[in-house]
Amino acid sequence: MERLQKAIAQAGIASRRRAEMYITNGEVKVNGVVVKELGTKVSASDTVVVKGIEIQKEEPVYYLFYKPRGVITTVSDDKGRKTVLDFFEDVEYRIYPVGRLDYDTSGILLLTNDGDLDNKLTHPKYEVDKTYVAKVKGTITIPDLKQLRDGVMIDGKKTAKASASLVKPGDDGKSSIVSLTIHEGRNHQVKKMFDVVGHPVQKLSRTDYGFLNLNGLTPGEYRRLKPHEVEQLKKLTNDK
Ligand code: URA
Repeated sequence: MERLQKAIAQAGIASRRRAEMYITNGEVKVNGVVVKELGTKVSASDTVVVKGIEIQKEEPVYYLFYKPRGVITTVSDDKGRKTVLDFFEDVEYRIYPVGRLDYDTSGILLLTNDGDLDNKLTHPKYEVDKTYVAKVKGTITIPDLKQLRDGVMIDGKKTAKASASLVKPGDDGKSSIVSLTIHEGRNHQVKKMFDVVGHPVQKLSRTDYGFLNLNGLTPGEYRRLKPHEVEQLKKLTNDK
């Protein structure tokens, strides 16, 4: 989703300021309705008409990215840190990340300009499974795993049922490698869940997003999703 005046400006029809003028003058329609509010958010699925001319939509594109650690999941950063979009300098589409991974988390991240699919994939209702592999402090026990599976209280709300299993004990003898699959996307959810069971996360990676994984990619690399993968992703969100 982006602000209406930005969508108009980026379509090359007018400067941001002129776009704002068109909006407040009542010369802009979103899905057939005149919109005069400057803050209105639109997505790629909305039809925007400016002075009778529909703004050109980009064809929807979908990328699967292996996010390295030390990269921020935003399109720009005021502290000058590397962002995920720095890896897509050659890509001319106005893509943005679907959901987020923490600065120090690596792993699978989708980027798209398809606002509709972005909205759906990030909505907990659609329950897309995300699998994380975490190196956590200490030796995780069977009761800890059960607690993670059954749900723990974070920020005053219990987490939904999850899958959790020990992958292997950590090489240093003081940690455990644990796989955790969740379908919610609450803020820092995985780290908070492990905090609750007394095993803080030392290293975190997201290995799977629904049926998609990182096979064939190294950190910093990306690939376009294949048409059948896009269809499958859409199906994941259409059946509910
Ligand atoms: N949960 C976290 O705590 N961090 C992430 O980056 C993703 C999920």
